[in-house]
Amino acid sequence: MKSVLMIFGATGNLMHKKLVPAIDALFQHQHLSEDTTILAISRREMDNDSYFDHLKTQVKAKVDWERLQKHITYVKVAIDQASDYEALKKRVDTLLPEGGNKLFYLAVSPELFVTIARGLSKASLIEKGDSRARIVFEKPFGVDFESAKEINQELQTFLQESQIYRIDHYLGKDMIQNMLVLRFANRLLENNWSHQAIESVDLIVKETEAVGTRGSYYDASGALKDMIQSHVLQMLALTAMEEPASMDAEDIRKEKVRVLKKTSILKEHALFGQYEGYLDEPGIPQGSNTETFIYLQARIDTPRWKGVSFRMMTGKKLDEKKAEIRIHFKSPASKLFPKHSQTQNQLIIGVSDYEGISFQMNVKTPGLNADLKNEVLDYCHSCHKIGNNPEAYEILLKEFLDGNRTLFTGWDEIEASWNVVDPLKKGPYQLMQYRSMDDFKEILSQMEAGELHVD
Ligand code: BG6
Repeated sequence: MKSVLMIFGATGNLMHKKLVPAIDALFQHQHLSEDTTILAISRREMDNDSYFDHLKTQVKAKVDWERLQKHITYVKVAIDQASDYEALKKRVDTLLPEGGNKLFYLAVSPELFVTIARGLSKASLIEKGDSRARIVFEKPFGVDFESAKEINQELQTFLQESQIYRIDHYLGKDMIQNMLVLRFANRLLENNWSHQAIESVDLIVKETEAVGTRGSYYDASGALKDMIQSHVLQMLALTAMEEPASMDAEDIRKEKVRVLKKTSILKEHALFGQYEGYLDEPGIPQGSNTETFIYLQARIDTPRWKGVSFRMMTGKKLDEKKAEIRIHFKSPASKLFPKHSQTQNQLIIGVSDYEGISFQMNVKTPGLNADLKNEVLDYCHSCHKIGNNPEAYEILLKEFLDGNRTLFTGWDEIEASWNVVDPLKKGPYQLMQYRSMDDFKEILSQMEAGELHVD
């Protein structure tokens, strides 16, 4: 069936960094048919040529511009102008004379979700219950629980839940999808996945990039709303949830929600930071207190996770780009070997950029010596990929085009994750200035309940 994909926010950072490369890859791998039209929409006055001039200066990935130019057309829509939606409707009707999929991607801030959905609905670009008309809502969905709830309620006026796709692109990452296999298809791990064997868990997303051109969006969010509420809590939920009844999306969602509802952050162990130079970035208001680094400790109030510390850390302008889940096992019970010669087992799940799993264990040194040493068993996931190695946005866009909601977040997950982070809003918290990860080492190690393992 013929499709028109309409992207609102087409001059924004997400379009440049993720969506254009994902669309290019989808065409290259024939997941988007040649008769697909993409309308790149924003409020700016521009013609197609100047739009592509703009894209070419902003998109860093290597893409096939000639092919993209055949498929993408720039359209100006002022989101509060009914006449602009009507003009868009006429254009779509011309493109789909015999009907087809009308697909929308709202890569805009959450305050605009309802206005745009209402505009689309009033112009009959989208009708409630029409499975060929669907909308992706980029994260964050709301700015806190109350605003998210309001957006969600309003959207239900124009859309059925089955037409709503709330995106969290970490769910499109292969190693995040691998979590269920790792946990439930390996008896060894399945049996040891609890406080009886596990001491603590680190959920880490470090980035080297600064806020760049996204200053005004980022300043209103900070690391807590930009990363913890969505990506990091999804990592936590998949690590800590109970076994779902089946691999069905609803069953998985149910377990994720259940564990999120039992998760609480220890406010007294929260650490906020802001990188030096943040206040000079474009779009950042004078004296902003927004955090670009955050370290949190959480507890999960279930019998499985009794006493286990879940540490979450994310930040911009750090020493490396890395997302990983690190499971620290307890020291062995055996008294055969001196404690100081053993290191605790660790299971490290590399989510990105390195995708793989490594397990640190104690072994005997070879030869006559009976000393113990720490060695690593390594599995490189990306090394085994054959052919196309799809990026998360490519996978999620394809799922959306196919009308498959499995990898998208349900309202109850959004609700539960805002409820985890909302209590933290009520600062004030001390904001540490930092130049590198080293600036946090001392304070982290002084914090009660041990250090965060950040290397
Ligand atoms: C986005 C955040 O959701 O995720 C960005 O808004 C962040 O601030 C990005 O840079 C990180 O994604 P990835 O896939 O590069 O780890």
